[in-house]
Amino acid sequence: MNVKQVRDLWKLKNAEKIGDPAKLPRHVAIIMDGNGRWARQHKLSVSRGHRQGTETLREIIRHTDDLGIEALSLYAFSTENWSRPPEEVAALMQLILDFFASEIDELDEKNVRILILGDKSALPEKQRETLIEAERRTAGNTGLHLNIAVNYGSRAELAKAAREIAEEVLAGRLKPEEISEETVSEHLYTAGQPEVDLMIRTSGELRLSNFMLYQNAYAEFVFPKVLWPDFTVEEYDRCLKEFEGRGRRYGGRTE
Ligand code: FPP
Repeated sequence: MNVKQVRDLWKLKNAEKIGDPAKLPRHVAIIMDGNGRWARQHKLSVSRGHRQGTETLREIIRHTDDLGIEALSLYAFSTENWSRPPEEVAALMQLILDFFASEIDELDEKNVRILILGDKSALPEKQRETLIEAERRTAGNTGLHLNIAVNYGSRAELAKAAREIAEEVLAGRLKPEEISEETVSEHLYTAGQPEVDLMIRTSGELRLSNFMLYQNAYAEFVFPKVLWPDFTVEEYDRCLKEFEGRGRRYGGRTE
């Protein structure tokens, strides 16, 4: 049996839980919120909350890959997160190293292509090198696009795209009237990937927090109340089922 046949069989077996495989989103984005509150609830340090959140992350990546979803984007560290206490920032930076050290072999084996969304140049050297190596190692893979946002802000991404487009115009390779929505998409980190279909933010917060503003233009939003460390594969399936039931009109009408 090839990989596709295994996936099809898996989907068939799980059809009741996830519904119609044809209605699965192509691209899921997740704001993994609630690690701090989970830690407080359990009288643990915030860093321990983030560590528990990383366990959830592993399960959700595996499940997304098993389902054959094309792209998964995860908000791990925003440009605003640098303002958190130094020990929390250090813990998150360490978790990034630990995550790639323990997962890279399996992800590569599963044909996952890793892409870091965000400005890697401002990261500590070890983290920068680890992320660059993960991208390099998996660049030729053809499976799930796993986008991990680190030092990411959507406005910064759009400003970067604008600068690159302006440079093309200055160099005479592009005329201003030729700039289209596709031109902008091609200059985002996610160039070549489908736009986000389903955006999940855990913990009951109802904000986008500067995450993939352009890519989310027509995304469906689901806001489960559960805190990220408590988010399970079953909860994820419920989000996918809810997505399946949404009528998507893209501003038009369906009869
Ligand atoms: C938001 O919860 C979560 C973050 C700022 C970090 C998310 C990171 C991980 C789940 C793990 C690290 C990532 C990788 C790739 C290893 P919060 O702390 O703002 O929660 P709160 O609102 O309850 O305080």
